[in-house]
Amino acid sequence: MISPRLFKYNALKQLKFAPVTKCFYSTTGSSQEEISHFKDLSTDWWNTNGSQRILHKMNLARLDFMRTNLNKLMTIEDQQDKDIFIPGYNYKEFLPSGISSIIEKDLDKEIQRMLNEKQFNVLDIGCGGGILAESLARLPFINHVTGIDLTPECIDVAQKHAAKDPTLDNKINYKLCDLATVEDKFDIVTCYEMLEHVDNPHEILRQAWKRLNPQGILFLSTINRDFVSWFTTIFVAEYITKLVPQGTHTYDKFVKSSEIVDWFQQRQPRKHKILDLKGTMYVPSKGWVNHDCPSVGNYFMAVQKLKE
Ligand SMILES: C[S@@+](CC[C@H](N)C(=O)[O-])C[C@H]1O[C@@H](n2cnc3c(N)ncnc32)[C@H](O)[C@@H]1O
Repeated sequence: MISPRLFKYNALKQLKFAPVTKCFYSTTGSSQEEISHFKDLSTDWWNTNGSQRILHKMNLARLDFMRTNLNKLMTIEDQQDKDIFIPGYNYKEFLPSGISSIIEKDLDKEIQRMLNEKQFNVLDIGCGGGILAESLARLPFINHVTGIDLTPECIDVAQKHAAKDPTLDNKINYKLCDLATVEDKFDIVTCYEMLEHVDNPHEILRQAWKRLNPQGILFLSTINRDFVSWFTTIFVAEYITKLVPQGTHTYDKFVKSSEIVDWFQQRQPRKHKILDLKGTMYVPSKGWVNHDCPSVGNYFMAVQKLKE
């Protein structure tokens, strides 16, 4: 049976907020209903065929998205001491394909080498049980990941899971805390599948932005408020295929990609650059597939903080 929550309005929900600790009153907090929903899911978080399987499947897609955008920022400048040749023209058009693919491979190798020399510090907001945080912490160009969340049981699951892998020692720190209380600044801030669970997404963006170093990048994913999202993410995923636990999403909380772009244009004019904005959809036989319609359904976004 289709639950009334399918059509429930956020405004009604707000009347029911009952904070667990003081920090949930914060403007970057979440409702008690959201927190207890994620508490119920926490025990099954690392079961790749369980309640979070869609997040597990999304993980590689978002890591690819991040890596692609980080790669784009690596510029190969001084080649004098390097065994690499970059023709100063559109070599792909003029050189035989065998030669241009060798150049391409050399460039890729050099970009990976440069990226691996970086040591980024990451803040993962709404880290849940740590699916993304752990994968990030294993990457050679990530120095440290701080994962924060408001659901105590998720932080507990994340800590216990990370403790099983000795290579993660000193690379991840999970904290049960509100974003507004985080004091440090980071090179990368991630906010994946979290904005659609908060009451004030613009405040999350504002606070996330404050925690980014100059030239740092905010990566996020969330869901457009449109019919396609309601149909795929709520109706089909929660009620027909049951791939996602019922009650996970609230239509009113979905955030249009245009609203995020507008927020940056109005609140951070000339201080940001949208590096990438891609639609992404779950195709059962293939997993998450990116497309060029970011105003429909789910989407990934990368925004860079420009130097003042
Ligand atoms: C759908 S899960 C996503 C988990 C993780 N980002 C991922 O994609 O694997 C959403 C998470 O956001 C957390 N959350 C919701 N509102 C939050 C808030 N205001 N601040 C921090 N975490 C929040 C929930 O507790 C939950 O763990």
